[in-house]
Amino acid sequence: MSKYYGKLAGYGRHVPEAIVTNQDLAERIDTSNQWIVERTGIRERRIISDTEHCSDLATAASQKAMDKAGITAEEVDLIIVATSSPDYLTPPVSSQVQHNLGAKKAGAFVMVVGCTGFVYALATAYQFMHSGEYRNIIVTGVEVTSRNVDWNDRNTCVLFGDGAAAVVIQRTTQETGMLAHHLGSDGSGYEHIIQVSGGTRFPTTHERLDEGLHFLKMNGREVFKFATSVMGETLQIVLDKAGLKISDIDLFIPHQANARIIEFAAKQAGLPPEKVFINVDRYGNTSAASVPIALSEAFEQGRLKEGSLVAMVAFGSGLTWGSCLIRL
Ligand code: UT7
Repeated sequence: MSKYYGKLAGYGRHVPEAIVTNQDLAERIDTSNQWIVERTGIRERRIISDTEHCSDLATAASQKAMDKAGITAEEVDLIIVATSSPDYLTPPVSSQVQHNLGAKKAGAFVMVVGCTGFVYALATAYQFMHSGEYRNIIVTGVEVTSRNVDWNDRNTCVLFGDGAAAVVIQRTTQETGMLAHHLGSDGSGYEHIIQVSGGTRFPTTHERLDEGLHFLKMNGREVFKFATSVMGETLQIVLDKAGLKISDIDLFIPHQANARIIEFAAKQAGLPPEKVFINVDRYGNTSAASVPIALSEAFEQGRLKEGSLVAMVAFGSGLTWGSCLIRL
């Protein structure tokens, strides 16, 4: 085992100001507050303004995490940005964030793993940490899915929201931080959450735009089945790896896609409601930003303290899933 560990030294989030309620949506498309609340638990979501972009949200959240950790831009060694809705397909949005922060000595890269992105990025950051070569790593989850959905498609547009949150992982020799992680992928389900056009397989053409192939499409029922089957399994795998039990977990922070999925997974795992963090009602599904937004709120609500054991679980496009256990 490495003699270097990573302490979660800072956190921060930045969400757009504008709140769009279920009622607002019901006035525009064929849906209702009752349907959305009953099927998803979502009541409102934040939607980005025309003048803000993915890189702005990520920069603001990262800066807050740096301030909390008490580090300067010069002290940042690496920035990992998890997102599927960057400003541009190229260049990587991570370099925009690095530049905006003034983190001149930092390397930067993007992780595109859908809603599982933050968990993958955190697990990656810890591998760099354990090498001992990095002192401060920023891991940011950010998403502007509102610009990728079809606002006439009630199957998707009611579900998603925009936002960003970040953490700073700081090198330490104290035994703390990531105790175990597990990453999963099953590409046979690639079609269940997909933006067909805009990549190199189906480059953007006028015809494809007319067909709406650039919009995010999701087979909700299939994803629901998949999510409920992998969440408990991946959680048990990290607990086994760390030699811990469900009852050792102080707070379970799952991907916030649907309150029903979270409640099912928590019940199946035997986690009492007070150990389960839910804020999907106020943000909707913010994809790669959902776990870190929840984490930052959990800190602010005093639900986490030094020594707490946090379990994070996420799932998303790919299909992918993953989990990690962090000792604060
Ligand atoms: O983070 C990425 C992972 N994504 C997810 O985790 C999403 C997972 N899936 C889900 O959360 C749920 O499957 C949904 C919330 C997307 C849908 O809930 P559901 O209980 O699986 O509903 P359904 O897809 O079976 O649809 C039931 C009915 C359909 O009507 P018919 O075919 O039964 O007549 C839909 O057309 O509800 C209809 N429907 C709506 N009705 C009102 C679908 N969307 C809406 C809507 N408002 N917004």
